[in-house]
Amino acid sequence: MSLKISKTTHNQVYEILSKYMKKEQVAISKTKPKNIYYIGAFKNGNLIGCVALQKIGNKIRYKTDFIMPNYRTNGIYKKLFNAREKVKQFKYNDLAVTAYCSKNSINTFLSNGFKIKKELKNGIKFVEREAQNGTS
Ligand SMILES: CC(C)(COP(=O)(O)OP(=O)(O)OC[C@H]1O[C@@H](n2cnc3c(N)ncnc32)[C@H](O)[C@@H]1OP(=O)(O)O)[C@@H](O)C(=O)NCCC(=O)NCCS
Repeated sequence: MSLKISKTTHNQVYEILSKYMKKEQVAISKTKPKNIYYIGAFKNGNLIGCVALQKIGNKIRYKTDFIMPNYRTNGIYKKLFNAREKVKQFKYNDLAVTAYCSKNSINTFLSNGFKIKKELKNGIKFVEREAQNGTS
């Protein structure tokens, strides 16, 4: 079974994954947000997960992090997260990053230098990593 990590599009994510995302409160709008970039995980050519980054004002937001339930706890999210870190570094090296995390994703954010800024209801945490100024 081959796993491929590569760029994908809003339309593809919306068409294939949004119905599963909605069941788990992962927000996705039908219309493509501005300044967004998606990375997908493809198993045998089928999209089974994604992450996104979006420039909002002078910060980056990591969002739309989702792996189809059958494919979880196999390290696929970690691969997507690392691929997104490279895109972020390449395109927006000197910007801070924010995200809303679930209990399943918080450890990945904390081990990548994010700090919890706010605890919201339903176990959601708002996290931020300050700008890294290109030296790290
Ligand atoms: C969060 C999610 C993307 C993780 O996907 P995954 O492919 O299972 O994650 P990985 O196997 O790559 O694991 C990455 C890390 O996440 C953590 N993790 C994964 N599943 C977890 C769970 N159920 N509970 C707690 N931590 C979990 C682990 O710390 C793991 O790191 P480790 O291997 O060093 O322990 C997936 O559970 C998901 O889509 N959940 C529903 C939507 C959601 O919560 N999205 C996050 C919004 S920011």
